[in-house]
Amino acid sequence: TGLTALDYGFVNTASTQSKITYIDGEQGILRYRGYPIEQLAEQSTYLEVAWLLIYGTLPSTDQLAEFDEKIRRHTLLHEDLKRFFSALPHTAHPMSVLSSAVSALSTYYEDSSDPHDLDHVELTMVRLLAKLPVIAAYAHKKSIGQAFLYPDNSLSFVDNFLRLNFGNMAEPYEIDPTLSKALDRLLILHEDHEQNASTSTVRLVGSTGANLYASISAGIQALSGPLHGGANEAVLQMLARIRDSGEGVTKFVERVKNKEDGVKLMGFGHRVYKNYDPRARLVKESADEVLAGLGVNDPLLDLAKELEQIALEDDYFKERRLYPNVDFYTGVIYKAMGFPTRMFTVLFAIGRLPGWMAHWREMNLDPQTKIGRPQQLYIGEPTRTYPSA
Ligand code: CMC
Repeated sequence: TGLTALDYGFVNTASTQSKITYIDGEQGILRYRGYPIEQLAEQSTYLEVAWLLIYGTLPSTDQLAEFDEKIRRHTLLHEDLKRFFSALPHTAHPMSVLSSAVSALSTYYEDSSDPHDLDHVELTMVRLLAKLPVIAAYAHKKSIGQAFLYPDNSLSFVDNFLRLNFGNMAEPYEIDPTLSKALDRLLILHEDHEQNASTSTVRLVGSTGANLYASISAGIQALSGPLHGGANEAVLQMLARIRDSGEGVTKFVERVKNKEDGVKLMGFGHRVYKNYDPRARLVKESADEVLAGLGVNDPLLDLAKELEQIALEDDYFKERRLYPNVDFYTGVIYKAMGFPTRMFTVLFAIGRLPGWMAHWREMNLDPQTKIGRPQQLYIGEPTRTYPSA
């Protein structure tokens, strides 16, 4: 068939053209629709950036207000879907609960399968933006045995989410602006990252004509792995293990360098960023600020800094151009906010949702889109004959 290129892990092959996100891995540049991530993180909000990613321009004040209003109207989950959570063990990983529940959403909204009906696509996107945080909070509440709260649609997107996670039936929830601002900022930093594994999954599933719920559910599963979004959870586990084992940072780094039992420095390295990850820089700046703002003093943050310092000065990491990525410091912040470790990747998923949807929509509007179907080079046995009896 004239097939020549073999590219494990798609290191050299572009699967699509896209107008959404620009990354320069050598210079550590990340822009959404042309806007530098630093400016968006400082000045924008999660929902405004979601609009930007999906539609390509910043929304007008009225457009944003209308979008926000629509999302507030769709936060409720069908009562039957709420019962879905009772069928799952309380020990279930919240990422599995999240993707199962998103998959289940497609059973309630079977009407939304035409990717070219743009009004309907918008309604589906609004439903997902509204319901994913509620599902996430219910997965959290389920895991700690607490009652689910109904969303309070008078609250902003982020405050509603925080209340659903940390509020209870007995007393009013007090909004903490430091917490809200910090979470909004972290969500913005996660909103898109061009053709990473989960976004490519969403595109691949979507290229078959599968609906948006099915595609997003698959994206959540792809994100769950420790080499991708699951790294934020793995970083915290690694830091806690170093602390509890008492082995010390230097010894741990030695084990990483010797590739003992395949142990890696989680939260380090990136396929694209080879000098630094601009998101990691912003997250690190936030970490001290947020912990101080919340009045939390976590020795794991000091451990993380010590680890980073040692790794950055070590030839193994220098030669391989390994630097902290976005997941290195986020866990320490999420922990300070009160989220259990197993919720960290769920927060990443809420952050990444707009990007996944923007790519799904862009793909379906692109006349060049075809079903995704990678090639292989066959290296198995040539023809064999089944033995006769
Ligand atoms: N710790 C120790 N060694 C590493 C690490 C690490 N974190 N990352 C890469 N290396 C080594 C790797 O073993 C290889 O060494 P050698 O040349 O001796 O075989 C070399 O560096 C090149 O790495 P690679 O595996 O070819 O790089 P990749 O582009 O295929 O993988 C990565 C990128 C992010 C999967 C990898 O760096 C990694 O596993 N990092 C730890 C997990 C992590 O933090 N993931 C989050 C990524 S950023 C956010 C997201 O995508 O969700």
